Amino acid sequence: MSTTSIRKTPLLQVRDLAVTYAGGAQAVRGVDLEVDAGQKLGIAGESGCGKSTLALALLRLLPVGTKVTGEILLNGEDVLTMKWGQVRAVRWAGASIVFQGAMHSLNAVHRIGDQIAEPIVLHSKASQATARKRAGELLEQVGLPAARVDAYPHELSGGQRQRVMIAMALACDPGLIIADEPTTALDVMIQAQILRLIEQLVSEQDLGLIMISHDLAVLSDTCDRLAVMYAGRVVEHGPASEVYENATHPYSKALSGAFPRIGDPASRFAPRGLPGDPPDPSALPAGCTFHPRCPVALDSCATQDQELRDAGPGRRAACVLVGPQGVAAPVLPGAEEARSTT
Ligand SMILES: Nc1ncnc2c1ncn2[C@@H]1O[C@H](COP(=O)(O)OP(=O)(O)OP(=O)(O)O)[C@@H](O)[C@H]1O
Ligand code: SF4
Ligand SMILES: [Mg+2]
Repeated sequence: MSTTSIRKTPLLQVRDLAVTYAGGAQAVRGVDLEVDAGQKLGIAGESGCGKSTLALALLRLLPVGTKVTGEILLNGEDVLTMKWGQVRAVRWAGASIVFQGAMHSLNAVHRIGDQIAEPIVLHSKASQATARKRAGELLEQVGLPAARVDAYPHELSGGQRQRVMIAMALACDPGLIIADEPTTALDVMIQAQILRLIEQLVSEQDLGLIMISHDLAVLSDTCDRLAVMYAGRVVEHGPASEVYENATHPYSKALSGAFPRIGDPASRFAPRGLPGDPPDPSALPAGCTFHPRCPVALDSCATQDQELRDAGPGRRAACVLVGPQGVAAPVLPGAEEARSTT
C-alpha cells in the first residue's frame, strides 16, 4: 500500500446516526458527518430540526429510553458501544460541550474556580491546589483575569460567564469542542468576541469544532464547512461560504436568505422567509419532508424521499433539482420552469 493511500483516523466520524425519543419523535435521521482536528463544522437549521439532539447524542447525553442507532466514532472508537466508565472519560477529555445558557449550566452557589477545577480533579487525579491553579490559567486563556477564580457566577456578565463555560470545556484538553448556540443569548458585540475567542482557541490548539446555530451568517463566518439540517436530516453539506452564499437546496436557500447580509442592503428589506414550521418529528410527511413548504416542489416530491447526492465539488444536497453541476433548474423563483425541465 502506498503511503499516500493511508488516511489518518478522523477525529469524529458519525455514520447513519438516528435518534428517536421515547414518545416516537424521530429527531435525527440518517446523519453522516466527519470532523478532523483543526476543522470547524457548522450545523444550521430552524428550531426543532434536531441540532441539539445530534450534539447530545455525540456524548450519550440523551434521556433514558431514547433509541440511538448508527455509529459515533471518536478517534476511531464507537461512543455508542463504549462502557459507561469510558463514556465518562470521553465526556471531558475526548469531547466537551458548551451550551447556550451559561447561567443555567453554572452552579450559582460555587465559585467558578472550583467549578472549573472539578473535572480536572476527576479526570487527571490532580490535587485541588493544582486544579485551582490550572483553573486560573484557563480563565486567562479565555480572556479573564486568573483572580476571578474566586467569583460566583452572579458576579460576572453574560459574556464573562460564557467565557467561563469555554474555560470549563477546555479544562481536560479535549480534542473536540461542541458549541451549541454558544452566543445566542449575548449581544452582538459580545457575540463577536466569543466567536473570535472560540475560533482562536480551536486553531491554536488544533481542536475540532462543531458549532451549532440557526444563524447561517455566523456559521459561515466561523466555520470551514456547513451542514444544514431539516427535520432531523442533513439536507445540504459543503464549504461554509459556498453553502451560505450560493445554497443549492431550497431550504438552505431560504434559510440563508432569511438573514440580512452586511454590505447588501437589499437583503435587509427582502428576507426570503419561509411559510409555516418544520414538521412534527412524530408525524413526518411522506416523500421529501420539506415538500409542504418548498416553493419549487414537484408533484413527485410528495412521495419520493431524497438522499444526499453530489452537488458540485465538495458539496452534497438532498433535492431532486440538484445535480453535480449544482441546481439543475431555477429554484427561487421559477417553480414552473423547474417543473417543466425535469
Ligand atoms: N427529551 C425529548 N423528548 C421528546 N422529544 C424531544 C426531546 N428533546 C427534543 N425533542 C424533540 O426533538 C426535536 C428536535 O429537538 P432539538 O432540541 O434537537 O432541536 P434544535 O434543532 O436543537 O432546536 P433549537 O434551535 O430550538 O434549539 C424537536 O421536535 C423536539 O421537540
Ligand atoms: S426534493 Fe422537491 S420538495 Fe424537496 S427540496 Fe427539492 S424540490 Fe423541494
Ligand atoms: Mg437546540
